[in-house]
Amino acid sequence: MNKFTRISKAVFPVAGLGTRFLPATKAQPKEMMPVVDKPLVQYAVEEAYGAGIRHMIFVTGRNKRAIEDHFDTAYELETELEASQKHDLLALVHSIKPDDMDCTYVRQPRSLGLGHAVLCSEALVGDDAFAVLLADDLMVGLDGGPSVLKQMVDQFLEVQTSLLAVQEVPLEHVNRYGIVAGQSAGERLIKVAAMVEKPDPKDAPSRMGVAGRYILTPGVFGHIRNQKRGAGGEIQLTDGIAALIQTEGVHALQYQGRRYDCGSKQGFLEATVELALKHPEVGPGFQEYLRAFKG
Ligand code: G1P
Repeated sequence: MNKFTRISKAVFPVAGLGTRFLPATKAQPKEMMPVVDKPLVQYAVEEAYGAGIRHMIFVTGRNKRAIEDHFDTAYELETELEASQKHDLLALVHSIKPDDMDCTYVRQPRSLGLGHAVLCSEALVGDDAFAVLLADDLMVGLDGGPSVLKQMVDQFLEVQTSLLAVQEVPLEHVNRYGIVAGQSAGERLIKVAAMVEKPDPKDAPSRMGVAGRYILTPGVFGHIRNQKRGAGGEIQLTDGIAALIQTEGVHALQYQGRRYDCGSKQGFLEATVELALKHPEVGPGFQEYLRAFKG
């Protein structure tokens, strides 16, 4: 098999209904919820762009047009900003989609699960290895260090197998994640021997939970296609990857950084507070406010 020399495409499954965040997500995509001043999906796209990826593939669905609009030209807004000479704001709006970034959209016609969503991108991905980013997992690398996806791309180019981002999770939370088990294959690297979606704590093979960042080889598509409906009655990406372990091998990387589960209210609030504290414009004032806050 030819060696993979780079990752140029990222898939963003954004068709989910966001029921955990109702009523906010009744009429707007959950991926457009802002943390401080940026929608979740933009954080994920910036992470991919920063890791060298230039082709963004969104697996979208009904009621998700705001995502396409966000990465498109906004004529009225841009004309107004230009006319009123608000150059900083204009540059900010332009920076959402740099000129060398391509965005492609494909529809997932039915909510059949994450595996099915990834399968919808097959014709666009072709024979390339590709990244998958779940935008409701907001991932932040260590201060001054590489992003989680950059760590993954660098590791992938060495191992040349599909690679999953993992973190240790509390035993009582294993039923929220894909869980992997395997042997150490280097610093922070695991050779995956088994993978199961949302196991009961008593059946979990480990506490290593998969976060929403994957680098996958195109071989995964055939395996997803062969899957029956798994946990929750959905076609699970986890089951497709579990089958890939047997044919190509799979690794997992214990990334360095922090994951915010922005699909949950608690995680979203934690991200909002922590990113606000680091924000150059509002950070200092917000810190002062929190110090003085008595509840
Ligand atoms: C999905 C995956 C799961 C993974 C999780 C990470 O689950 O199916 O394996 O651990 O994302 O956020 P979801 O959170 O969509 O239920």
